Amino acid sequence: MREMTNIALIGFGAVGKSLAETIRDKHDWLKERYGLDAKLVAISGRSKGSIYDSEGLDLEELLEVFNETGNLESYPKGIKGLSSMEIITETNAQIIAEATITNIKTGEPTLSYVKAALSKGKHVVTSNKGPAALAYNELQKLALENGVQFRIESTVLSGTPAINFSTESLAGHKITSVKGIINGTTNYILAEMEQGRPYEDALVEAQRLGYAEADPTADVDGWDAVAKIMILGNVVLGGDLRSSDVERTGITGITMEDVEAAKAEEKRIKLIAEAYMEDGVVKAKVAPTWLPLSDPLANVNGTLNAITVMTDGLEEVTVIGGGAGGLGTAHGLLSDIIAIHRH
Ligand code: HSE
Repeated sequence: MREMTNIALIGFGAVGKSLAETIRDKHDWLKERYGLDAKLVAISGRSKGSIYDSEGLDLEELLEVFNETGNLESYPKGIKGLSSMEIITETNAQIIAEATITNIKTGEPTLSYVKAALSKGKHVVTSNKGPAALAYNELQKLALENGVQFRIESTVLSGTPAINFSTESLAGHKITSVKGIINGTTNYILAEMEQGRPYEDALVEAQRLGYAEADPTADVDGWDAVAKIMILGNVVLGGDLRSSDVERTGITGITMEDVEAAKAEEKRIKLIAEAYMEDGVVKAKVAPTWLPLSDPLANVNGTLNAITVMTDGLEEVTVIGGGAGGLGTAHGLLSDIIAIHRH
């Protein structure tokens, strides 16, 4: 049996909490199936305090007290009050699981957390789109220099395979483009509008379901999709896209009349993000697109996401699945933790 894998969790919102619950619930199965003895040694949450025990936190007890008090520091044992940076740099965690809120403009503070962790020789798995979109190539280089891994499966399509699917399962194929529906909020709004529900009502419901970003303009103006297509363009196609390189149109200009007009032509309007090669350079765009109903992406409805990868060996390969939510995203993080353990 291999030794324990010590994990520190930064961020204790829906995703972070789901990861803690998943490790609690699947610990024995992970050990039996993969020889992974996953031990959460530290957790910090923006407004929920922090807790560290080098021997591992008792997740049963910790989650119970957290559910009662809303504060991690109600846990009766361990060291309290460490900052996220101290947890990253000064604890015995070998893997930093990072699930804080995305800042698409600067990537901070997460970008600094990731750099500090990698420089300290700690693996990083993150669901945060900021660092992956803004600095993937730099962070990957830093990880390599320090003999550790920087893994980002859950940044695109949450727990539905997208990144590792394209770079590992499809390894050997030359991939020339990736396109898809990579924002659940806008896909939900467009599908609801097709059912006759006004845009504003559908947006409120997407927020209630927990799909929308903290600031939903990031969804409806296309910024979330820009961040994700930058990740796909840079990671899967080997590009060096900046956000200013991505042509962007959101869905705020789409009217009920547009939706009806598309329907009359047996088409559906979808917010499509695409990264592709042009003259040897990776380009990307995000725009509402009228798709014929015969296109697999036209039939991806509700909050589902999908990507179609164009390969030389199989032509189009499409993956469809959930693209947001605590549990799904936590499983994307977990798959990266398992991958690190396997390597
Ligand atoms: N706001 C995002 C979405 C969440 O709607 O897809 C997942 O990144």
